[in-house]
Amino acid sequence: MKYLSVILSVLLIAFILCACDSSADTENTQNTSEEISSEESVSEKASAEDVTQPEENDEAAAADENVPDSGTKVLVAYFSATNNTKAVAEKIAAVTGGELYQIVPETPYTDADLDYNTDCRANREQNDNTARPKIAGSAANMDGCDTVFIGYPIWWGQAPKIIYTFLESYDLNGKTIIPFCTSGSSPIGSSAENIHILTDGANWLEGKRFGAGASSDEVNSWINSLELN
Ligand SMILES: Cc1cc2nc3c(=O)[nH]c(=O)nc-3n(C[C@H](O)[C@H](O)[C@H](O)COP(=O)(O)O)c2cc1C
Repeated sequence: MKYLSVILSVLLIAFILCACDSSADTENTQNTSEEISSEESVSEKASAEDVTQPEENDEAAAADENVPDSGTKVLVAYFSATNNTKAVAEKIAAVTGGELYQIVPETPYTDADLDYNTDCRANREQNDNTARPKIAGSAANMDGCDTVFIGYPIWWGQAPKIIYTFLESYDLNGKTIIPFCTSGSSPIGSSAENIHILTDGANWLEGKRFGAGASSDEVNSWINSLELN
């Protein structure tokens, strides 16, 4: 009888232990499925974001595509021998969203070529009405472009002759052209008027002269005053 009660007790303990283990298994299963479900929701979110992202990119691409159709495509073409005009051109392009085009001479100007106290190449070209220095590289993209800024350094009160080469190379009929220049002190003066005649049917706006190192504010307020849009 004593043995029987021991055996019954052992069986009862074994039964209780089994019951606990099985309930722990159920809890573990629930936890695991909760983890999966939460992982799934992360991956669902990630894939939802994946879907959203291209749409956002599409919107950005569409905005870019609108630029040429908006009727305000701007080209900022410039020649700069010592980078003063280049710096202004870059600021104009930043404000207007315009495309930059550097007019690069086929034969670069050396320091000696620019030494205006001597009989240098630049001086000789400025004194020669027929001088048209060649331009290197590919042509500017004028497709859909209706506004052209044209920038240059003042050389003896005038635009360098390579600007003449540039303007004579394109059909600028119907385009708005806005000249700008940099100089030691000379105004834009007759340099702009003397290049008007190189284009047929273009609408020239009044230009502006900047000093070396013109500020972004100075450039911005000039662009705003043009009321281009
Ligand atoms: C050949 C030559 C002629 C120049 N003539 C004038 C001038 O008539 N008046 C003036 O104020 N600056 C004159 N300059 C100075 C330039 O216009 C000035 O340094 C300009 O900002 C240079 O621009 P860049 O760095 O874009 O070439 C002359 C410079 C050179 C090389």
